[in-house]
Amino acid sequence: MKIWPETLEAEPAYKLLTGIVVPRPIAWITTMSIEGVVNLAPFSCFTIVSSAPPLIGINIGLKAGQAKDTGRNIKASGEFVVHIADETMIEQIHLSAVEYPPDVSEVELLGLDLLPSETIAVPRLAAPSIAMECRFHQSVQFGDTGSEFTVGEITLFHIRDGLCTDYKIQTESLRPVCRLGGPNYGLLGQVITQKNIAQTPKRVETKSPA
Ligand SMILES: Cc1cc2nc3c(=O)[nH]c(=O)nc-3n(C[C@H](O)[C@H](O)[C@H](O)COP(=O)(O)O)c2cc1C
Repeated sequence: MKIWPETLEAEPAYKLLTGIVVPRPIAWITTMSIEGVVNLAPFSCFTIVSSAPPLIGINIGLKAGQAKDTGRNIKASGEFVVHIADETMIEQIHLSAVEYPPDVSEVELLGLDLLPSETIAVPRLAAPSIAMECRFHQSVQFGDTGSEFTVGEITLFHIRDGLCTDYKIQTESLRPVCRLGGPNYGLLGQVITQKNIAQTPKRVETKSPA
């Protein structure tokens, strides 16, 4: 089968891409409105942008032509927290995507506990093993749907004690959750460890015949 992109409207293209680009990590994001309402929503179009400084990015779409609370709050306050949740939180992640009006806090509705952040005013969730306090860096609009790739600079990493040794995260202990196409999620499967590339023997030089 072949699909020519020029034959696709935005919605089927979105369905196709979100089924192809899998598994996607989930950024579970708290933001705060100017009125002080703490918003929570998941974003799986999520990636690393730079390591020096540490920048991470999420693609935030529109809902019914309007900015989502997360995008609006990030632009207004310049701050957000990205959490990495584990498999015990899948239902709460999913329910936090329900589109409530801006004055409704998904954190309160779901009965989640918050902790104060240290470098920004937006609080973080207490339960996830990783929380990254971020300051808004830049956003860029791509394409025709109004979605914006939104980048933040990490100002503080919170990592559960025992999860990180020598800057290496123990993934099996993190138990991250990923998003697949539609309302489908995946868990960490088998971890397959390969030789460190730096330790792989170099190709042996062979003499060419005289
Ligand atoms: C697991 C998951 C991942 C999602 N990823 C994205 C995403 O990457 N970009 C996006 O715009 N919406 C994404 N959504 C939808 C938003 O979470 C949803 O529109 C939410 O209501 C936005 O909330 P807000 O208006 O409070 O910001 C995702 C939903 C789920 C359940």
